[in-house]
Amino acid sequence: MKQILDDLNWRYATKQFDPTLKLTNEQLDVIKDSLRLTPSAYGIQPLKFIFVSSPALREQIKEIAFNQGQVVDASHLLIICSYTSIDESYIDAHVELVTETRNTPAERAAGFSEFLKKNILSMSDSDVEPWNVRQAYIALGQLLHTCASIRVDATPMEGFNAKKLDELLGLAEQNLKSVLLCPIGFRSSEDNYQHLAKVRKSKETLFQTL
Ligand SMILES: Cc1cc2nc3c(=O)[nH]c(=O)nc-3n(C[C@H](O)[C@H](O)[C@H](O)COP(=O)(O)O)c2cc1C
Repeated sequence: MKQILDDLNWRYATKQFDPTLKLTNEQLDVIKDSLRLTPSAYGIQPLKFIFVSSPALREQIKEIAFNQGQVVDASHLLIICSYTSIDESYIDAHVELVTETRNTPAERAAGFSEFLKKNILSMSDSDVEPWNVRQAYIALGQLLHTCASIRVDATPMEGFNAKKLDELLGLAEQNLKSVLLCPIGFRSSEDNYQHLAKVRKSKETLFQTL
């Protein structure tokens, strides 16, 4: 249990990455598995995880992200995106995946499909979109902890112009929107933020017992 707190205290929102240090394939695989295992409402995973490897594209994204250097210096740049709407075919694909994975009897699968369609298709896009965005933050939280536990640095980032990024990457055409940037890699020894104490509310302020 102590390990969990060691990991969470080790991590910090890295401001300066060492551009010479790269993730191993094994580290990247753990990170991808962690993202894949992220829970989501009804399990529908309304997310897409985009890794940007092109240096030219990363330079363009840096400008859109108010010139935050982590975007180009980190080993990897992840964009966590969510779907802007969910239609019948999306639900059909999910039910098919569940059915295949769990060998679900046809009758139960049909009931599940009906249940999902009743609940999700009755929602307006203006409700579905922020609901999906919220799922992105679950992935972010899990990602940050996973990275910390394998001693990989990551910076959660909302500091970018999402509209411009969506245009640059043509995300709307894929029914997607960017929610978070997350540069992932290794801290520079020159990043002074790693030495700062964590600033957190006291437990007395943060917790309430009823
Ligand atoms: C949703 C979210 C968005 C953030 N956006 C940025 C950002 O754009 N740039 C940045 O350097 N840090 C960003 N941060 C980092 C926070 O400032 C940082 O997590 C917070 O101050 C706590 O510090 P710690 O993560 O080092 O413990 C963001 C954090 C979160 C959770």
